[in-house]
Amino acid sequence: MQVVHSRADFFAAREQLTGPVGLVPTMGALHAGHAALIETAARTAESTVVTVFVNPLQFGPDEDFGRYPRALPADLERCAAAGADLVWAPAVEDVYPGGPSRVRVDPGSLGAELEGAARPGHFAGMLTVVAKFLGLVRPAVGFFGEKDYQQLTLIRRMAADLELMVGVAGVPTVREPDGLALSSRNIYLSADERQRATALSRALFAGQDAAAGGAAKAVAAAREVLESTGGIDVDYLELRDAELGPAPDHGSGRLLVAARLGRTRLIDNVPVSL
Ligand code: PAJ
Repeated sequence: MQVVHSRADFFAAREQLTGPVGLVPTMGALHAGHAALIETAARTAESTVVTVFVNPLQFGPDEDFGRYPRALPADLERCAAAGADLVWAPAVEDVYPGGPSRVRVDPGSLGAELEGAARPGHFAGMLTVVAKFLGLVRPAVGFFGEKDYQQLTLIRRMAADLELMVGVAGVPTVREPDGLALSSRNIYLSADERQRATALSRALFAGQDAAAGGAAKAVAAAREVLESTGGIDVDYLELRDAELGPAPDHGSGRLLVAARLGRTRLIDNVPVSL
């Protein structure tokens, strides 16, 4: 596995890669969820590129850009174990030479809903850096986690609407044994918050079980779990269709939750059958 930092070294290393390339963009602090993406890419593509870059453009002024966990040596071990061929860990100047991008990708109306309502500008910043990495790496397929389902949905839309001619593959969410979705932000949780945090996935699974009775029943079942736990400040709990349009009466849906535990904001989602 090769590790590069500068733009020039990345371009030189990219030239050496053969066959269809799989790309796994990350912000580092890698855990078993990221490893699942890299393993899936390594199984699917001939060469696997991982980017490790905490993208300032997708953080709001009051968000955790400064304190976002950074752990490159451990990240490189995980990348190697999961089968990456090339890791690019650029500095901000390598990704944004000459300052922040003047052009931003507009996520459309979905960009202002759910996560976008709580994090103005987040999805424009995220799509912009993903578009840049797709352009720089030129993969056949990009791999993204269902954990960030709205992100995955918007990247799919960007690839389709802007004719980027790249495949977008979704990888199921990897969870702790007690159901908590793995996240680089879980380390912010106190022991008490970590206990309570299991309510998010328990609520979603309760909603999944109740979904045969319709969307309202599914949301009510999930809400009951969250409310009975305490110490959880729910930002949204919504059932949508699989493309994040309005909930269907029947068929595939997605149940999504965001909640604050102390200073930490967590998100999770599951598929539901209505
Ligand atoms: P990051 O939060 O580091 O996540 C990188 C990728 O790992 C994303 O596709 C995310 O959905 C996936 N992922 C995170 N936790 C997961 C889990 N528990 N199971 C499965 N996949 C999981 O998401 C970002 O970075 C950034 O927004 C990025 C796309 C890199 C653009 O900056």
